[in-house]
Amino acid sequence: MKVKFFSESKKAQKLSFEIKKKVGNILKTGKYTNSDYVKKFEDKFRKYFKTKYCVAVNNGTSALHLALLALSIKKGDEVIVPSLTFIASVAAVNYVGAKPVFADINKDDWLINTKIIEKLITKKTKAIIVVHLHGLMCDMDKIKKIAKKYNLKIIEDAAQAHGSSFKKNQPGYYSDVATFSFYPTKNLGAIGEGGAIITNNKNIFDKTKRMRTWSHNKYNFYEVSFNYRMSEFSAITLIAKIPFLKKDVDKRIEIANKYKKQLNLKSFSKFNQKIKKHSYHIFAIRINKKKRKNIIKHLKLSGIDTNIHYPYSLPKLKFFRIKNRNTNSPIANQISSELLSLPIYPELENRKINYTVKKLNNLI
Ligand SMILES: Cc1ncc(COP(=O)(O)O)c(C=O)c1O
Repeated sequence: MKVKFFSESKKAQKLSFEIKKKVGNILKTGKYTNSDYVKKFEDKFRKYFKTKYCVAVNNGTSALHLALLALSIKKGDEVIVPSLTFIASVAAVNYVGAKPVFADINKDDWLINTKIIEKLITKKTKAIIVVHLHGLMCDMDKIKKIAKKYNLKIIEDAAQAHGSSFKKNQPGYYSDVATFSFYPTKNLGAIGEGGAIITNNKNIFDKTKRMRTWSHNKYNFYEVSFNYRMSEFSAITLIAKIPFLKKDVDKRIEIANKYKKQLNLKSFSKFNQKIKKHSYHIFAIRINKKKRKNIIKHLKLSGIDTNIHYPYSLPKLKFFRIKNRNTNSPIANQISSELLSLPIYPELENRKINYTVKKLNNLI
């Protein structure tokens, strides 16, 4: 049996009529980028997340970059980031010339450790980037308290958290600005690429909106900016898919619960289900680091694709090590060497979940 790590061929087929019809419209008008469908998507997305503003861009990394620029983070500033996340969360800090300062993660939920954040704050600290890793939101009330005490900005990297909540509030509620990726495998993925910024702050909205497309009016440029525009084709596919988000996340939760019940290992992330809704962009377990490679190999031989999110602790990467005063992240070092991500997506059939569980239980 073949178990792919990700597939949505059935949904793509279901949506192909609606998508083709709208593509027909843009072929007629010739408006291929950052136009009416992008505006329509921004409106739908901002309403979904109950924020005042949304700016759609070409990917999640650009969204982070613009968010940092809008908060005037620059050379000489420090930004606190988690040690375990996708590299883009931290690369964006380097783009603006600021210095990422790594905070280690918690052993139980693998998210940024709020107790460590306070110890890392200096006069140079301007912001905290929290990452809702795998679809589990960070402890936003604690983060907000710290940010208020030290007058820091909060950016939520919600690239993996479409459909997640903390105390019933979604990304965008607790922060100055939240950013998303619509990479195809995300809980809400474009057929193509995409990203978005949501905020309730008019200044952040104005600045990110103008900087995504060269900060110009008809006759002048205000500042050096970027081409971070979203294509109309991506927007069409996102408009078609957004109505499925809630149901898709419910399905992901159902699959995660099956794994949790049936797997002999109980080393998945632990969190308070009364407070947090995990959207399971990723379902990961921890396994013995000495056995990981072998388990991946044997699952592959049985036709089961797996992945690792992420196999590195970021402070260990050479280019961050040179720039950083805090490279000590023992928990991220340990957990990154043990994580294993299993297939999880709405179209994953029961027989494939059962097969994956059976093969994995045999190996562990
Ligand atoms: C946590 C996180 N941040 C940022 C990004 C960057 O998004 P993109 O690939 O759309 O640039 C990703 C994408 O995988 C991500 O998972």
